[in-house]
Amino acid sequence: MSHDPRITDEPWPPFAQRLMDGFMPAVLVFHGARFFILQLLQTPLLLTTDFQAFRHRAFAKLWDQYGDAMSEELPGASTKLIKDASGVVLDIGPGTGSLLRFLDKSKITMAYGPEPAIDMHPKLQQYINKAGLTDQYKILSAGAEAKTLIPALAKEGLIKTDGSTVDGIFDTILSTRVLCGVPNQAETAEQLYRLLKPGGHMIVCEHIRSPWPNAGSFTGWATQKFMLLCGWNLWLGGCEVNRDTVASLRKAAGETGWRKFDLQYVSPFHSVPFIVGTLEK
Ligand SMILES: C[S@@+](CC[C@H](N)C(=O)[O-])C[C@H]1O[C@@H](n2cnc3c(N)ncnc32)[C@H](O)[C@@H]1O
Repeated sequence: MSHDPRITDEPWPPFAQRLMDGFMPAVLVFHGARFFILQLLQTPLLLTTDFQAFRHRAFAKLWDQYGDAMSEELPGASTKLIKDASGVVLDIGPGTGSLLRFLDKSKITMAYGPEPAIDMHPKLQQYINKAGLTDQYKILSAGAEAKTLIPALAKEGLIKTDGSTVDGIFDTILSTRVLCGVPNQAETAEQLYRLLKPGGHMIVCEHIRSPWPNAGSFTGWATQKFMLLCGWNLWLGGCEVNRDTVASLRKAAGETGWRKFDLQYVSPFHSVPFIVGTLEK
C-alpha cells in the first residue's frame, strides 16, 4: 500500500496568482507579530519565566479574533471527514472550537479535547454548548503529547494503569491544524497511534512542509521559505510551517503500518499546503 499522499486533481492557478496566494499568509504573520508584541507589553516577565504559556496566551488572542474566519472554508474534504468522527473521540488542540459545528453529535459517544491554551477554554466551552455537545465533550487542560495527555486521560478514568501500557482507547482521533505545534511531532504521533483502537480512525487536516520537488511547486516552496524568514514559527504560537508531518504519521504505526493511509495533498503549490484524509489502524 502506498504511504504517499495522493496528488490533487485541483486545477493549478496561473503562476502570478500562485505567487500572490503564496504571500497571503504574510497577513497572518503580521497579526501574529502584533499579538505577540501586545502580549509582551501586557506580561513582559512571562516571556522569560514561561515561554510556552506566553505563546499560548498570545496565540489564543489571535485565534479568538481570526479562528472562526479561518474555519469558514476548510481544505479539501475536511468538513465531510470531520462529520465521520464517531464513538469515543480525541479532538487534539480544538482551539476555540470553531470546527465543533461540523461534528455529527448523533455519532459521538464522548469526546475529549486536550487544549493547552487555557485562555481558549471559555470560548471553547461556549461552542461546545452551542453545538449541543455539553454532555458529550470534555475539555482537558493538556496537550497532545504523552507527558500531559496521559495524566489527563488517567484523571478521566480512561487509563487504568500508570500509563506504561496505554493502548486502544479512542475510536477517532481528530487532528486538525495541530500537529504543526506539538512538541516532538514524531513521538507524539506514535503515542496517538497507540491511543487508537484497532480499526479506529485518525482524521487529518494538517498543513505541511512544501512537498516540492516531489509534488507542489517551486513558488510554493520559495514562498514558504519566505514565511519562515518572516518569523512564522515565532509569532504564530510555535506553529512550525515546514514540518514533515507525512513522515511522522507514516512512522507512527511502526512496522505494522496503518491498515489504510489515505491522504491527499490540497493546494500543494501553496506556501501553506495541506494534507487531508483518514488513516485507519
Ligand atoms: C491553529 S489552531 C487549530 C484549532 C483547531 N484544531 C482548528 O482546526 O480550528 C492550533 C491549536 O493547537 C493548540 N496547541 C498548541 N500546542 C498544542 C499541543 N502541544 N497539544 C495540543 N494542542 C496544541 C493551540 O493552542 C491551538 O488551539
